[in-house]
Amino acid sequence: MGFLPFGFCILFLFFFCSVQAQQAYIGQGTNNCSVTTNSALGYSCNGVNRTCQSYLTFRAQPPFTTVASISTLMGSNPSQLAAINSVPQTATFNTNQLVIVPVTCSCSGQYYQSNTSYVVQPGESFFLIANDTLQGLSTCQAIRNGNSRTTVNIFPGQRLNVPLRCACPTRNQTGQGINYILSYSVTWGDMVSTASSRFDGDTNWTLQANGLTQQSATIFPFTTLLIPLQNPPSSIQTVSPPPPPASPPPPVQPSTPGSSSSKTWVHIIAGVVGGIVATLAIVGIVVYCLRFRRRKVKLEPTGTSSESFEAAEKKSTKNKKEGVDGLSGVVDQGLRIHDFEELKLATGDFSSRLSERVYKGVINGQEVAIKKTSRNVSSEVNLLRKINHFNLISLAAAYQHQDEYYLVYKYMENGSLKDWLQKKGISLNEARSWSRRLQIALDIANGLHYLHNFTEPPYVHKDISSSNILLDADLRAKIANFSLARSAEVALYASSSIRVAKGAKGYLAPEYVEYGLVIPEIDVYAFGVVLLELVTRKEAVFLEKEREVLLSEAIVVILSGEHSESALCDFVDPGLHPKQQMVIVLRMMKLILACLAKEPEDRPSMGEIVSSLSKIQLDVYRSEFMYCSSS
Ligand SMILES: *[C@@H]1O[C@H](CO)[C@@H](O)[C@H](O)[C@H]1NC(C)=O
Ligand SMILES: *[C@@H]1O[C@H](CO)[C@@H](O)[C@H](O)[C@H]1NC(C)=O
Ligand SMILES: *[C@@H]1O[C@H](CO)[C@@H](O)[C@H](O)[C@H]1NC(C)=O
Ligand SMILES: *[C@@H]1O[C@H](CO)[C@@H](O)[C@H](O)[C@H]1NC(C)=O
Ligand SMILES: *[C@@H]1O[C@H](CO)[C@@H](O)[C@H](O)[C@H]1NC(C)=O
Ligand SMILES: *[C@@H]1O[C@H](CO)[C@@H](O)[C@H](O)[C@H]1NC(C)=O
Repeated sequence: MGFLPFGFCILFLFFFCSVQAQQAYIGQGTNNCSVTTNSALGYSCNGVNRTCQSYLTFRAQPPFTTVASISTLMGSNPSQLAAINSVPQTATFNTNQLVIVPVTCSCSGQYYQSNTSYVVQPGESFFLIANDTLQGLSTCQAIRNGNSRTTVNIFPGQRLNVPLRCACPTRNQTGQGINYILSYSVTWGDMVSTASSRFDGDTNWTLQANGLTQQSATIFPFTTLLIPLQNPPSSIQTVSPPPPPASPPPPVQPSTPGSSSSKTWVHIIAGVVGGIVATLAIVGIVVYCLRFRRRKVKLEPTGTSSESFEAAEKKSTKNKKEGVDGLSGVVDQGLRIHDFEELKLATGDFSSRLSERVYKGVINGQEVAIKKTSRNVSSEVNLLRKINHFNLISLAAAYQHQDEYYLVYKYMENGSLKDWLQKKGISLNEARSWSRRLQIALDIANGLHYLHNFTEPPYVHKDISSSNILLDADLRAKIANFSLARSAEVALYASSSIRVAKGAKGYLAPEYVEYGLVIPEIDVYAFGVVLLELVTRKEAVFLEKEREVLLSEAIVVILSGEHSESALCDFVDPGLHPKQQMVIVLRMMKLILACLAKEPEDRPSMGEIVSSLSKIQLDVYRSEFMYCSSS
């Protein structure tokens, strides 16, 4: 009895969708790969034009976080992708950042699609490729269809054609002034209205374009929602409430598809409320900062018994010209030290030591590293206040007690890169060691790129070494110890004064030692040495036959000698399988030698380095999986 009306309802809905909707929303049609509905194969080819410019959205996820890797994955043009997201072509996006991907959409048979190709990784199924890697921009059904396969029979290393879901405006839409259709990849907490208005789309048009109604507007994560637009999307629209930069998830771990489909349709309003709250908070912070700048607020929070930093700065006139104006800006990243007792308590009376003058502690349940120093930290703090980058250490708090300064940083679980590389524990055949080390290299390069180009004025770190690179729990790297950092302009100006080359032995660029030049290129040189350490697991200065050898010189000797390839093989960390990975080794060596060029103008910029490393990383990501799976 009850069955007939129900069946009729479904039939009616189906009829309604196929007639009224310009494109049917896919709903849960992505979940069962053995059921192929029309909407799972793509959007019907019912637009005015058979080919059009269209856009997809993708959330950056390792290893797809750079302009190069995302455009390769999506079959998009890297320069267009960089332009529409307002970033340089060498840029790396933060994990989870929304990226606009411009593509050409065209009819293939009865469906619209944008073509890309994809190399299958071990353990991946059509479903994992469509859902996890491509974030629902394709479906298992469409990929299988695009490769004329009837079974789930794919193998690692196989190159697949992947149709991405896109559409072109229909006559109805062009009549309403719509010029583009954005394929938005839905995530947790999205609603039709929030997704549309984010891109200046109209909710009613979006509902109509997807065959949804106000009453049934439920959308599911990892599906596409078509958003009709009058103007192309822009980078401003991809900025969301800032995610906590603390710990991005580790590289994509293929997981098995399955049981979680029930939770996929939870409709979360909290996301929207959170978004509004976060937006208000950002506006608040901006207003606060602007006022703070103008008024040059007196620094207060660091306790009654202590003298303020500002007073301390007045005593030291040396740093005056760098415009030190108080520390409040950074002294408020969630932590606030009220008195010295708190620091003593946090560190167990400075009992747990990480290194000389660096202590481990817990404040507000948060693990921290506390650095004690008697030198004036105001210029360092002033710099740290200006920077906010995932790959540069950020100051959580600062405190002064008597003549000592205490700088509080987030604790980095894996310690310094130097210690990590020298640790006996990391086994020589550690899985994925190339990609891990390349990620560390890219992290450092990105941090330096930011420091050299996006701070005002540009800064030079001056003390890049593997001991000043710290690794968090996920082995993501952050550059630390900005005590020698200074702005490039001031530095050049001051280069005629008496100088003693400061910085760690083994990392000093020739022009710095000889002429005291403080230019970004000296960081590039030091970075070259760090890269070399990453690849060889040897120290920057090591002992050979009881003689101190500089790593930067040893490599030149090896590469210019006879049988250089086999000597190189012996020199590189065996854990990186240099024999099998000679191509990668040689590409890295080329980059390293460029960084170590004698003349600073012959060295690449950090931006160029980021770009080269990203390309190597992508190739490594592929080849390493191939290698591991075949051995
Ligand atoms: C997928 O659909 C097929 C055919 O309708 C059915 O036999 C199978 O149980 C479904 N699988 C899941 C996981 O729902
Ligand atoms: C995309 O691929 C399909 C077949 O895989 C092909 O028919 C179509 O022409 C391709 N489109 C473009 C624009 O290359
Ligand atoms: C689809 O991919 C996302 C992101 O990787 C994952 O969280 C989700 O569980 C996947 N869906 C299913 C049904 O496996
Ligand atoms: C075209 O748009 C009108 C409203 O502007 C709507 O009533 C009609 O159903 C649409 N036609 C199609 C085929 O979507
Ligand atoms: C359709 O094609 C024509 C001619 O190439 C072009 O002028 C028009 O802008 C296109 N319309 C859309 C919506 O892409
Ligand atoms: C959207 O449609 C609803 C109901 O059809 C209407 O009440 C509302 O005003 C419309 N909104 C806009 C922005 O056109």
